[in-house]
Amino acid sequence: MQVTVELSQANILIVDDQPANNRLMRMILERAGFKNITTTFDSRESVRLYLEGKFDLVLLDYNMPEMNGIEVMQAIRSAKGNVHYLPVLMITAVVDREVRHAALNAGALDFLNKPLDHMEVVPRVCNLLTVHLLKKGFEDQVRIRTRQLQEANEKLQRAKMEVIHRLGRAAEFRDNETGNHVLRMSRYAGLVCKVLGSGGRMGDGLGTSSYCECVESAAAMHDVGKIGIPDAILLKPGRLTDEEFAEIRKHTEIGAEILGGGQEEPLMMARTVALTHHERWDGQGYPRGLKGEEIPLPGRICAVVDVFDALVSPRPYKKAWSVEEAVALLIRDKGSHFDPRIVDAFVANLDDILKIREELKD
Ligand SMILES: [Fe+2]
Ligand SMILES: [Fe+2]
Repeated sequence: MQVTVELSQANILIVDDQPANNRLMRMILERAGFKNITTTFDSRESVRLYLEGKFDLVLLDYNMPEMNGIEVMQAIRSAKGNVHYLPVLMITAVVDREVRHAALNAGALDFLNKPLDHMEVVPRVCNLLTVHLLKKGFEDQVRIRTRQLQEANEKLQRAKMEVIHRLGRAAEFRDNETGNHVLRMSRYAGLVCKVLGSGGRMGDGLGTSSYCECVESAAAMHDVGKIGIPDAILLKPGRLTDEEFAEIRKHTEIGAEILGGGQEEPLMMARTVALTHHERWDGQGYPRGLKGEEIPLPGRICAVVDVFDALVSPRPYKKAWSVEEAVALLIRDKGSHFDPRIVDAFVANLDDILKIREELKD
């Protein structure tokens, strides 16, 4: 019997302590057309060989010194994290009934009897290899498909973040906060989030990179509600009346409405940030007058980084403040306007903040 081209490439390991048996088995298989055969006389060596190589089938003698065939299987399986499936064809004397039961329990797929029946060896080997290669092909397909799904999912995530960012930039066009303000303050927010998380100061999970990425993209949306404020008020050069201020303040709730209703975390957090970035630690902010930790953490972070970037940037109605002046204001207002721990984290990492500022300058 000659094997097919596909089967002839299979990697086969023969383990038998008797050199004569080893040679005989190799000869039978080579005559049938198998090309990749490895043999060993040492049962302990066989464990190492199997774990290092990629064998499609092991012809494993039961009766060997040092380790018997079943012990070899057990050693391989525990080294591989207790896998159930091993492509093992066990070779035993026909009378070893109990051994056969134990070998089946240990996971042997089939048996060959000693003394070897030449007519039986090749068909049994072929049967097992066919099943093994089918299984492998199926597993490969599952693996490829899983990877494709993961990639598609990651792409979708990136696209979502991108859309969130773009929407943030759209809001900028309506405002006189032009340039890279949105990009800068969102990067500052991500950085502060990481610092707070790594210090363990804000509870578990907050420093994880996915949470901080979420804070970063949500921060970019803080003023998206300005899309809904009339130009006459938003772009008015002079002082605003009380009524006009009240209108402007509505950008928090308009933003929450634009971003609301989503079930996905980045969007839900973006809504939170839009709604709460003008709340103040002392409860004097808007729109709800939330106080202290009632204000969600992303909103508290954005309050600090938004004010800082606005202060140190020039506006049509004001010159840019120096970094020192802006930091002095943050420190002065910590505990009143700002969450003190966030100001501390911001100031402690000012060097990194200024690097981002330089990278994204207008
Ligand atoms: Fe705002
Ligand atoms: Fe802003």
